Amino acid sequence: MTRRGRRALLAMAALVTHGVQAQTPAQPARRDDDPWRPAWHFTPPAHWMNDPNGLVFYRGVYHLFYQYHPGGTVWGPMHWGHAVSSDLVHWHDRPIALAPDEHGTIFSGSAVVDWHNTSGFSHDGTPPLLAIFTYHDEAARKAGLPPQSQGLAYSLDAGETWTKYAGNPVLRPDAGQPDFRDPKVFWFAPGQSWIMALAVGDHTEFFGSPDFRQWHRLSGFGAGVGAHGGVWECPDLMPIRVAGTRQTKWVLIQSINPGGPNGGSATQYFVGDFDGHSFTLDPAFARGLARHGPRWLDWGRDNYAGVAWSDLPPGARHPIMIGWMNNWDYGDKTPTGALSTGNWRSAMTFPRELSLHRSRDGGYALRQMPVRTWQTLAGPAVAMRATMVSGTVEVPLPDQAVAQSLVTLAFDVPGGRTRVGIELSNSLGDIYRFHYDAATRRFSSDRTASGVVDFSPKFASVDHAPRLASGKTLTMTFAIDRSSIEAFCDRGATVMTTAVFPRAPYTRLRLFAEQGHARLVSLRATPLAGAARN
Ligand code: FRU
Repeated sequence: MTRRGRRALLAMAALVTHGVQAQTPAQPARRDDDPWRPAWHFTPPAHWMNDPNGLVFYRGVYHLFYQYHPGGTVWGPMHWGHAVSSDLVHWHDRPIALAPDEHGTIFSGSAVVDWHNTSGFSHDGTPPLLAIFTYHDEAARKAGLPPQSQGLAYSLDAGETWTKYAGNPVLRPDAGQPDFRDPKVFWFAPGQSWIMALAVGDHTEFFGSPDFRQWHRLSGFGAGVGAHGGVWECPDLMPIRVAGTRQTKWVLIQSINPGGPNGGSATQYFVGDFDGHSFTLDPAFARGLARHGPRWLDWGRDNYAGVAWSDLPPGARHPIMIGWMNNWDYGDKTPTGALSTGNWRSAMTFPRELSLHRSRDGGYALRQMPVRTWQTLAGPAVAMRATMVSGTVEVPLPDQAVAQSLVTLAFDVPGGRTRVGIELSNSLGDIYRFHYDAATRRFSSDRTASGVVDFSPKFASVDHAPRLASGKTLTMTFAIDRSSIEAFCDRGATVMTTAVFPRAPYTRLRLFAEQGHARLVSLRATPLAGAARN
């Protein structure tokens, strides 16, 4: 038996001892015949996936670990699944990286390159990769004890295999802290220290460490600030250069469930400063919060628990994020989990570049756009010239190209009560609509008639988002992949991500203008090939 096999067996024995149901780690074969399986977004080979974890770039390879239940298509005892890519488009599945052990199951966390071997795990000069994750001990929870603590694992073979630290757990909660999870760590060079952001119920706490093993509390942020309709999860703190300036601000990305702007899970963000000890809100950003309410990274209902890659190469100009393209409101009921259609559940968003911009009120606003490597899949694009749209206009894409495409269009911002947008439809009458409404200055994503919607009363919805930009041209980019539509409006100033389950692939793409007319400035629709796996 291999070492890995023996370790898995030992881990399972430990789980049984702890009263957690052991799950078979055997994987069913990957099935690609499911028409809902995305062609160019990441999905697990089989079974259940939620949050992205351990995003780290090392030696030309992007690592994507993820919350994984290899024993079924619903959430269960969590492992870290693993995949690698050199371009964030073509992914290669790797063996499960972390399995439950005597301390609990493996919840979300992060990974970094320990360039200076501060942890001392390396003995030959190769920097170790370090992963830090939350242990969840269900038996402790049932006994009324705090169930969550942080554990550490290291890899000396570039992320392929992981060894858990013998001194785990490395960080325990105080009594009475049931939610104490999702550590995201980065190296803070000015303080020569590791910094961890950790979600603790209704706020985030920061911890510091010189060696990744011993952690001390620094400060807390967020109680009473921003949205609080649910528990805070999966924080990420990162510096971002303000576009067009030499200034850098710190952005705290903060998932929350429930309590999103359109229901269920969503991610808010805060802009401020970080001095190695505390995160403080930028005063103009704080005024904007007070006036307009929480700032949402994505107003759609299917982007959650997103975090950014660590250790991007020095030339990288933007942080790159990826999120779980699902929502805890209905995540374990989406129809791909039914064996008749597929044996996988949940996709990731397409990776996105983040940028930070000054906003009109003197504050700051995040924007995000798909990373450009989708272009490696591009087929012959279709372009349309400027034209007046009134009613509907067909976009001349080949039928089979509609469901896998990237479409960018620009309209003159209409006036009056005009609505402009796109619709995707199929021969069965399923229709998805996305539009901008000049009267309310809002975007809407309507999936009420998009296909199969009855698996949860919370799924069918029309979701809304404000237009945050003010230019006279409205640009919209749609990343369409069989069962998802990611809408990036005004170059990513307002983003909406929506999952759909059409009964047959969408084959028709139309533009529309209703209750008035609007001038299309340009349109470019690019069919995308599937990104082959493994
Ligand atoms: C977010 C989350 C995390 C947790 C993980 C468990 O979706 O609830 O807070 O670590 O999922 O799978």
